[in-house]
Amino acid sequence: MKRVKVRLGKSSYEIRIGPGILAEVGHRLTESGFSDKLVIITNPIVNRLYGEALEQNLTREGFRVTILSVPDGEEQKSLETAGRLYHELSNFYAERATPILALGGGVIGDLAGFVAATYLRGVPLVQIPTTLLAQVDSSIGGKVAVNHDQLKNKIGAFYQPKLVISDISTLKTLPPKELANGLAEVIKSAVVWDKEFFAYLEMNLDRIKSLDEGELEETVLRSAKIKAEIVERDEMDLGLRHILNYGHTIGHAIESAADFRIGHGEAIAIGMLAAARISNQLGILDQTELLRLRSLIQRASLAIETPSLKLDKIIQAVRHDKKILGGRTRFVLPKAIGEVFITDEVSPSLVEQVLVGWHEET
Ligand code: NAD
Ligand code: GLY
Repeated sequence: MKRVKVRLGKSSYEIRIGPGILAEVGHRLTESGFSDKLVIITNPIVNRLYGEALEQNLTREGFRVTILSVPDGEEQKSLETAGRLYHELSNFYAERATPILALGGGVIGDLAGFVAATYLRGVPLVQIPTTLLAQVDSSIGGKVAVNHDQLKNKIGAFYQPKLVISDISTLKTLPPKELANGLAEVIKSAVVWDKEFFAYLEMNLDRIKSLDEGELEETVLRSAKIKAEIVERDEMDLGLRHILNYGHTIGHAIESAADFRIGHGEAIAIGMLAAARISNQLGILDQTELLRLRSLIQRASLAIETPSLKLDKIIQAVRHDKKILGGRTRFVLPKAIGEVFITDEVSPSLVEQVLVGWHEET
């Protein structure tokens, strides 16, 4: 089992990463000073796979457990579902000291985290992420939110968990598409921060994809360390943390042009490649580095082109993003693998050129 510390003064916490560590949750909670009752928020898929075993483990440790299950899906990240959860927490007589355990992927983590941040002005939150994306990204750093008025993460807070427990054995039941979605965020971490990690991924991607436990643990550990380091330097997302949005400007535009029928990771992968092409066109990123990125994305079973989407819809969505940012479209561009910079100086015609030239060699 590996540990990563997220150092945020009084809000510091530990991330534990390893195989089979769901079995230690009860003990860890007791060690952290929790007792009596707790609430698990999860969905039916994850509950069937891991919820019941976790409940038994916690009951054995002496906790009174209530499982609150919400249907699967991004649409559950809503004020309506949060409202239902507040009602159920109230029926369970949850108090200020009653921890909420978020057991699931990023949807459950963001929703349960939002509920934990707001119920009784905040109850303790424990993240137990079960997707690769959630283990490497969403469970770390305290961004919790629900969607509103068709806008993602519109209502939310910064609310750090007390503890994150990433049991990498849970990744073995992930559908391949979800593994690929998580790999997009893993590749993102490497490109924005750590060229050695990128080289490691190039060497070991096939073993990671075959769910080798050692490689999964190393991958989650290295990604979690990167995220922790960035969050420690810019918890409130005022500057440096924006680099975690690498691939998201065009990625988000593709998601919305596709009416969210495309996976987040897949859209981000295309966005990362598009940003790299922009940088290359500006004479900054080397062609060799661009080709390395393209190859890794492809090997991760992520799309490198979006043939079925209309370019004008994507451009329109990029423009919408620009309005939100006060007339400027912000891009995170790679200088080289392992180093990015933020700019709002990319011309719309270059974005268009890069997207139009999609079918060319890169
Ligand atoms: P998700 O939570 O929808 O999970 C994907 C699917 O996998 C779901 O069907 C889920 O039921 C299933 N699943 C979960 N664990 C499983 C397991 N171990 N075995 C089998 N199936 C399992 O999606 P996600 O990709 O984990 O998260 C996406 C969400 O994360 C989005 O809402 C996004 O906005 C959010 N996000 C938040 C942050 C943040 O910093 N808070 C960062 C990135 C993404
Ligand atoms: N996933 C982006 C962030 O945590 O800032």
